[in-house]
Amino acid sequence: LPKETQQAYSAHEWLTKLYHHLIRYTKDGKNGLTYLKERGITEEAIDTFQLGFAPTTKDFIRTFLQKKGFHEQMLVKYGLLRRNQDNSVSDRFQGRIIFPLRNHLGKTVAFTARAVEGQEPKYLNSPETDLFQKGKMLYNFDLAKKHIRKQNEVILFEGNIDVISAYQVGIQNVVATMGTALTEIQAKLLNRYAETVIICYDGDNAGVEAAYKASLLLQQVGSEVRIASLKDNLDPDSFIREYGGEAFTKEVIATAQTFIGFYMRYLKKDYNLSLEADRIQYIEKVLMELAKIESSVERELYVKELSSEYHISMESLLAQIQQYRQKSD
Ligand code: UTP
Ligand code: MN
Ligand code: MN
Ligand code: MN
Ligand code: MN
Repeated sequence: LPKETQQAYSAHEWLTKLYHHLIRYTKDGKNGLTYLKERGITEEAIDTFQLGFAPTTKDFIRTFLQKKGFHEQMLVKYGLLRRNQDNSVSDRFQGRIIFPLRNHLGKTVAFTARAVEGQEPKYLNSPETDLFQKGKMLYNFDLAKKHIRKQNEVILFEGNIDVISAYQVGIQNVVATMGTALTEIQAKLLNRYAETVIICYDGDNAGVEAAYKASLLLQQVGSEVRIASLKDNLDPDSFIREYGGEAFTKEVIATAQTFIGFYMRYLKKDYNLSLEADRIQYIEKVLMELAKIESSVERELYVKELSSEYHISMESLLAQIQQYRQKSD
């Protein structure tokens, strides 16, 4: 490895320990600890995820790292320090909860830092460098991979906090994209470890849109996809805090829909189903998707649903599907 990269690894390791020490044992970390406790995050989880706190000081970290002999230029490049207008440098993360981002070997390669006093942005991330590319990693993959393999199933979240919340109630096959669109690299990585991916994004519009896109990509790489739905404005963390881990497993994960089930609901947003013309278009679009299903038993299940919801005979729905299937041969 280039010298600078080695130094960067080392600086991240020192900082992970320092931030964690501050939140666990010092007055400087008190605000952070209070914040996490109020969010129901346990000391055990704080240790497992090496969570920390960056104090509200301009040069706490700069002083620490420079005493260790690290070069200022490297620290700025990796986003641990920030260069100011007057060319001085100061701490980049101030007054924030620190989440170390670990690569698949468990080494910290970046940080994401959450505001605790309403600062913007809510989450401040390390810049993309040779150590860290957000689209190539998944939060918590290093700890989750053995559970993913064993269960042959992975639960995919948007947020780091969602992962931590689930993990601390014993659901360990969990990773997060950290708010960005799932990439092909991430999809392929998951596919190597498990047959099934359960997408469990936030219950808002953005979450539903992202779930649709992620499910297309995951199917392309050969994964079995299911989509879990959360009531409006809940995310996995807020659901677990309100209803507990058992309810999450039984009511959210176990009831996750197949792609088609999800798609039939998702597609409705584009149509006004009280209009006949829209209804026809909607049904045809669904049938086109159903035509792609190989199992006739599964096809019939959904056809039954459509038939009773829209008062169209099973025969005519099935006949239309046959047409679509012949066309695609
Ligand atoms: P959310 O806005 O859903 O945050 O973004 P959250 O995880 O529920 O966080 P809390 O509960 O408010 O603390 C999902 C993920 O997107 C990334 C973070 O990784 C976050 O976990 N994100 C979000 C950013 O990188 N920057 C932002 O400003 C916001
Ligand atoms: Mn510890
Ligand atoms: Mn969200
Ligand atoms: Mn969220
Ligand atoms: Mn949240």
